[in-house]
Amino acid sequence: MNFKSSDILSIDHYERYDITTIFSLASLMEAYAQRKKKSRALEGALLGNLFFEPSTRTRVSFETAFYRLGGAVFNISDEMATSMVKGESLEDTARILGGYADVLVIRHPKEGSIKQCADASNSPVINAGEGSREHPTQALLDLYTIMKECGRNLDQIDGLSIAIVGDLKHGRTVHSLTKLLSLFKNIHFILISPDPLVMPQEIVQQLLSRGHTVEECNDLARGIGKADVIYMTRIQQERFSNPEDAERYRGCYCLNKGLYEKQVGSKSVPIMHPLPRDSRPGALEIDQDLDDHPNLAIFRQANNGVPVRMALFALVLDVADLFSGG
Ligand code: NCD
Repeated sequence: MNFKSSDILSIDHYERYDITTIFSLASLMEAYAQRKKKSRALEGALLGNLFFEPSTRTRVSFETAFYRLGGAVFNISDEMATSMVKGESLEDTARILGGYADVLVIRHPKEGSIKQCADASNSPVINAGEGSREHPTQALLDLYTIMKECGRNLDQIDGLSIAIVGDLKHGRTVHSLTKLLSLFKNIHFILISPDPLVMPQEIVQQLLSRGHTVEECNDLARGIGKADVIYMTRIQQERFSNPEDAERYRGCYCLNKGLYEKQVGSKSVPIMHPLPRDSRPGALEIDQDLDDHPNLAIFRQANNGVPVRMALFALVLDVADLFSGG
């Protein structure tokens, strides 16, 4: 695909070779993300970071990525502080802010809203999480993490077995990640969730139609034993029509050191989570007794968001050539 000035709205728009392009550049970006090298590639460019839902890592890692490339950033994190409280539409807001910025990163709870913004804005729009639907850049950093943690190149993702655990109905990261992995061959998906929170059937059907195998179960101990990667998620309370219903599922899957070591044995199986993990008593999808475990990849995973997002900015704003050849 031609990344220049393109929106990043859904994993559906990508082919397998696009992922190679993004990850080759992301690995070059690591030295810049760690300030071992410096770049002014985006000097003079402006990012508009529009977050209409809470965020820590996604917003700040997009911001960090842009600054590391020499650009500047404005942030809007509170709808109540915009003219939308005076009745301005989201489209008009995106149209105006897209006129100021070179690229917009937008998170919004309403499905379809990011596409509406992209249609209204003259600047490219990157989806930073839209309702329960998709979170494409998280999926990219997740796959980048899987490669690094498992010591596999992209071709060796074929044949991977991954356990994906938690609220698979509402979790947008798992919707994008399964779509991304479905671009590869013979992936074995072990989908572990309470029955009312299963992966949407259209996604399961897409995985099956692309030749992957899918095992759906609700037993964490049974499900993780055969996995090469364990991907935990939290219960997405804010997506329930009655948030109190979420309480029923909070704490239903708790991965702790004892369970992990019993089921995984001496294999090196990375434990991932898009974060935030819910560390309140009664939740604990990843127990803090795993914090020092070498296979706990969650903090390295969060750090990978910066080089991956730097690569995406460089491609969309057409400065990637400045990095080829190191
Ligand atoms: C996720 C999100 O916002 O969808 N977090 C993230 O972007 N890293 C996952 C979540 O909130 O559970």
